[in-house]
Formats: sequence, C-alpha cells, structure tokens
Amino acid sequence: MTLRPPEDQDIVVIGASGDLASRKLLPALYNLCAEGLLPSGGDVVGAATTAWSDDDFRKHAHDAVAAYSRSGIDEQVWLQLAPRLRYVRIGRDDDLTPLRKALHCESRLIYLAVPSSAFVTLVRAVGRRGLAEGTKLIIEKPFGHDLQSAHDLNAALHAVLPEERIFRIDHYLGKETVQNLLVFRFGNSVFERVWNRDCVERVEISVAESLGVDGRGRFYEETGALRDIVQNHLFQVLSIVGMEAPVNFGAEALRNEKVKLLQAVQPIHAHYVVRGQYTEGVIGGEKVPGYREEPGVAPDSTVETFAALRVHIDTWRWSGVPFLLRTGKRLRRRDTRVVVAFRDVPLHFFEGLDVNHMDPNLLQIRIQPDEGISLTFVAKQPGPEIRTQEVHMDFSYGNSFKTSPPEAYERLLHDALLGDHTLFIREDEVERGWQIIDPVLRDPPPVYPYAAGTWGPDEADRLAEPGHWFSLEDPE
Ligand code: BG6
Repeated sequence: MTLRPPEDQDIVVIGASGDLASRKLLPALYNLCAEGLLPSGGDVVGAATTAWSDDDFRKHAHDAVAAYSRSGIDEQVWLQLAPRLRYVRIGRDDDLTPLRKALHCESRLIYLAVPSSAFVTLVRAVGRRGLAEGTKLIIEKPFGHDLQSAHDLNAALHAVLPEERIFRIDHYLGKETVQNLLVFRFGNSVFERVWNRDCVERVEISVAESLGVDGRGRFYEETGALRDIVQNHLFQVLSIVGMEAPVNFGAEALRNEKVKLLQAVQPIHAHYVVRGQYTEGVIGGEKVPGYREEPGVAPDSTVETFAALRVHIDTWRWSGVPFLLRTGKRLRRRDTRVVVAFRDVPLHFFEGLDVNHMDPNLLQIRIQPDEGISLTFVAKQPGPEIRTQEVHMDFSYGNSFKTSPPEAYERLLHDALLGDHTLFIREDEVERGWQIIDPVLRDPPPVYPYAAGTWGPDEADRLAEPGHWFSLEDPE
C-alpha cells in the first residue's frame, strides 16, 4: 500500500445500513483512519433508505466497528472518525439530490454497496443529479449475471463515467496472499524456471467454505457458485497464477497480462464441469441443514453450491496442463489454496518405495486460513535402509511477519481513494470472465447432492483423472 493519505474528497457509501457496510466497509474506514490513511479533508457520508439521523448512523457505525474491526475499537481513534460521519436518507425513487446537497468536497468516492439489481438505476441517478463530475465509483460484485448483462452494465457506466473513474471490485485481489502470488512469481527467479508445461503436471485452485449461504438464500438462488465465486474470485487467482510477466507493475500492464491469460482459456466442455448442492450434514460436530432447507431457497432448487471445472489454457507456457478449479459451500473446512503439482521423476530408483502412493512434489500456496506457502518433497528417513518419507518446507505469515494482514477492503478502499486501478477489474476483463462461463450457465450440467461436511460430490473426482485431487483431501 502506498503509505500516503489521499487528496481531500468525500467518501459516500450508498447502502450504508446494509450488511457489507457493517461487516466490511465501516470497519475498513475505521482502520484506515487509525493508520492516518483517510483523506485529511472530507466527510464519510452514509446514504440509505433507512430513516436515520447522523447520530443514529454514528451509533450504528460504532457498533459495527466494535463487532467487526480486525483491531477492535480504540475510542481515541473513534473520536477522530465520528465527527466526520454524516448520514443522508435517500428515497426509493433514487433521487440523489439530498446527497448532492450534503457533499462539500469537489471530488468524491462513491461506493455502491447495494444489491446488483440497483446498480444501473443508481449509476443513472449519479449522472442525472450532476454528481458525475468529480466522482470515482466503486461497484461491487456480482457485476451482471451473464455476458450480456455485464456488457449492458458497462455501457450504462460509461454513459456516465469514463473507465478511469470506475473501480470494479473483487475483494480477493485485496487479500495479502493473493498479492503475494505476484511477488512470489515475479520476485523469485527460482520458481519462474519451473513455472511451465515442462515441469508442471497440473494446477489446482480451490476456494472451500464451511459456511452455508449464511442468511443469503434468496441472493444465492439467483447466483449459485459459478457466478458467485468461479467467474470472479477463481478466475482472478487463475489469471495471476497463469499470466506472463507484465512489462511493469502499472495497472494497465498488469491487467493486460491477466486479460491475455483469460483470452487463452479454451471453451469449457460440459463434461469438464461438475455441479453439486449440499444436503444436511455435520460440520465441526454440529448438524447443519441442507441448502433446500435454507430460508429463501426453493424446495426443489437446482442451484449449485459447489462447482468444479477442468480448464485448459492455450499458451506456449501452459498448453496441455490441466487447471482444476473447485469451490463449494458447507465443505469440510475453510480452505483456499493453489496447488502446483510438478511432474514425477523419470525413474524411481529407491527399492521398496511405494511409488503408487506417493504424490509428486507439490507447491501449496495457502491463501486462507493459516496463510503461507509450503513445498513437499521426499527425504530419506534416518537409518541404515533407504526409506523415504514426504516432508515439507514451510513458510507461514504468522511466524515470519508476526502481524495480522490488513483486511482486503482496507487496501482496496485506499487504492480507490488514490485512484489506483491495479487491483480492480477492467471492463474487458469482467466481460471475458463471463464469456468463458456463459455457455455453462446457459446449458448447465446436472447438479449432484453432497452431504454438508464432505469435500463435495464424488463426481468431481473424474476431473482429476488419471490422478486424484491433491487439495481438499484428507490424509488416508
Ligand atoms: C463473496 C461471496 O464474494 O466471497 C460469498 O459472495 C463468499 O458467498 C465470500 O462467502 C468469500 O469470501 P472470503 O474472503 O471469506 O473467502
């Protein structure tokens, strides 16, 4: 993060009484304040349809920070932030005149923390109410629900704002461990030598959650795992793992390479997509209901809460190397990681070695939790015989840096305040993501049930054939 406070500007959160504002945005603004990274001039204006006064909003924000801030709440810091918080009630008719009147700075960052169905109307309202001049806009995911709607949303945005003032957020890019993928790949010469089809057998990227739909049944019914995680978070990690080195680390150079990688993803064959839906089961000793029993979910829903895909990338670097992507809710535990499986040695010399049960060298990049990187290899067990054993070289963030990383939203809000697009999604990038997944959405393969607390439906195993998945498996 560039450690400088941004130029004076107001920060407007539309949807200030919602869940995202409470859990993520208000705590992030508080922590930026604590670190002296908010603009020194300008207010933080909450806007929503709820009938609140400034003081109601301050109390709400105080409670949200106390409940969700990674550093807790320090009342001295709170006293610096509280007087800058103001609230504006906006009507359901999307008349933003009261908001415009409440803003004092010439420029502002507006965060649309509202359901995606409200994006177009609000963007048009920004244009209509003379707010476009001086506005930078952060827009949450999901950015559309297919290629056409994403294209229409881009057109609606561009009718009001130029691309350089639009910030499409994917909070995975704000995660320390995802940014570290760039440093790991392009800051160390040793890995670049083996980062290609000559040495890599397969790459796996998994986003496993133990949580269910967490009260968002209605939202999830419209979304499903392919739209909620694959099209954005998984494709973002895929593009960083697979891209070529950019010519510099500026926003455009980096995003050019990510887009090029996505352009090289081959059309996905339905045979290489497995969808699943959780049924009741046990997680962490607790019985949890099935997806169809969740509030807001249709009793005969066929929406997927699990998706696994095998994709191929047509580049010189990756031709022939399968990339296996997997995500699911109510899986056994939370575990997001990238696993790079290297090719086996050409000959096995050591007698008695059960080569059929040995995994190849695996580089495992743990994105969350237990953030870190490990490399597994075989070593000789001490003793007179040559007996081998799998061992790990391990780097852990906790041990090496002794500090908790900032929340993704802190980093991203600060970057947007500075006008830095590096960690935001460009127009062509979001549309390419939809283009890849659109055929699967139009003609989805069957959905298989899996019990909550497992690693998903067994049908996903076939994507890894002739081998087996290296991630999200428990040791036998
Ligand atoms: C969000 C999805 O984008 O990411 C949620 O809408 C998901 O369904 C969440 O739970 C996961 O984020 P994280 O940071 O907990 O991995």
